[in-house]
Amino acid sequence: MTQINNKALFDLAVQAMNKAYVPYSNFVVGAAIQTVTGELYSGCNVENASYPEGTCAEAGAIASMVRDGQTQIDSIYVIGKGEQLVTPCGGCRQRIREFSTPSTMIHICGPEGIRKSMTMEELLPFSFGPDNLK
Ligand code: THU
Repeated sequence: MTQINNKALFDLAVQAMNKAYVPYSNFVVGAAIQTVTGELYSGCNVENASYPEGTCAEAGAIASMVRDGQTQIDSIYVIGKGEQLVTPCGGCRQRIREFSTPSTMIHICGPEGIRKSMTMEELLPFSFGPDNLK
């Protein structure tokens, strides 16, 4: 376990995780973002009786950030309770990437703290982003 380097962000991710709506998977996930300007946002997974309509915790946090006019992620904490790492799904890697630089930090956590930290470049190498549209 790595030392938590941003307790406010970790705590926010925990609070979000504890609000997850997961009647189908029972797999709670929370995400918390700190922007480069220091603002904090969070989200939880929200499932749906029509299963594919469920949304991931990261998507909720990003929507909240963009709603507030922020588009640059400095770091993101993702937390779950499972034994394995709750690494962002493929779709969420791309969602995070849209608002990241190669050095944006992704911290994968369990209730006890950070389990693994990685950069955006490590999480999604050779990614397609806004610059690829030029
Ligand atoms: N989930 C997330 O919220 N984020 C991820 O990156 C991985 C998966 C959620 C979706 C679903 O509600 C539950 O975890 C099980 O897949």
